[in-house]
Amino acid sequence: MKPILILLPALLLAPLAAPEAHGASTGPDGKALFDRNCGVCHSVNPPPKSAPPIVPIASAYHRQFASKAAGVSHMAAFLKSPSKAASKVDPEAITRFGLMPPVALGDAELKAVAGWVWDQYNPNMGQGVGGSQNGGNGNCR
Ligand code: HEC
Repeated sequence: MKPILILLPALLLAPLAAPEAHGASTGPDGKALFDRNCGVCHSVNPPPKSAPPIVPIASAYHRQFASKAAGVSHMAAFLKSPSKAASKVDPEAITRFGLMPPVALGDAELKAVAGWVWDQYNPNMGQGVGGSQNGGNGNCR
């Protein structure tokens, strides 16, 4: 086989969708999207950068949505158009860090990155976002 014929399409398509490259069945790579579009503000684990870390955000979403589909769909809508009313994290996070700016990604990318965020849930770190001082929201479940 001529290597160039194999390599060229792979290089062109990799950033968009290369299911065989990262093991997911379909769609864009949520982790890569996160690294490119979100990591500048969000760390995955505490301590925070300029936004709440992803693991406690994922915990807040797991507490408030029964299914991944529902959580991811709400999160994708939030990323497109953040609002205080739609926020599912501790309100203290917005007080502390400000409201998140809208993300300029397509719907498929938003779903993929939201799915990756959802999957970062760690049951051993279930406390609320924004500190535990005001309690109440950190019920481990
Ligand atoms: C410019 C900084 C910045 C970038 C870039 C950014 N975020 Fe955020 N994000 C924030 C801040 C600040 C908050 C906390 C306030 C809030 O919830 O709006 C937040 C909150 C969130 C929340 C909680 C939403 C809720 O219910 O309140 C999620 C989920 C999230 N970000 C995911 C992402 C993802 C995924 C990306 C990349 C596609 C991203 N963020 C990029 C600053 C950022």
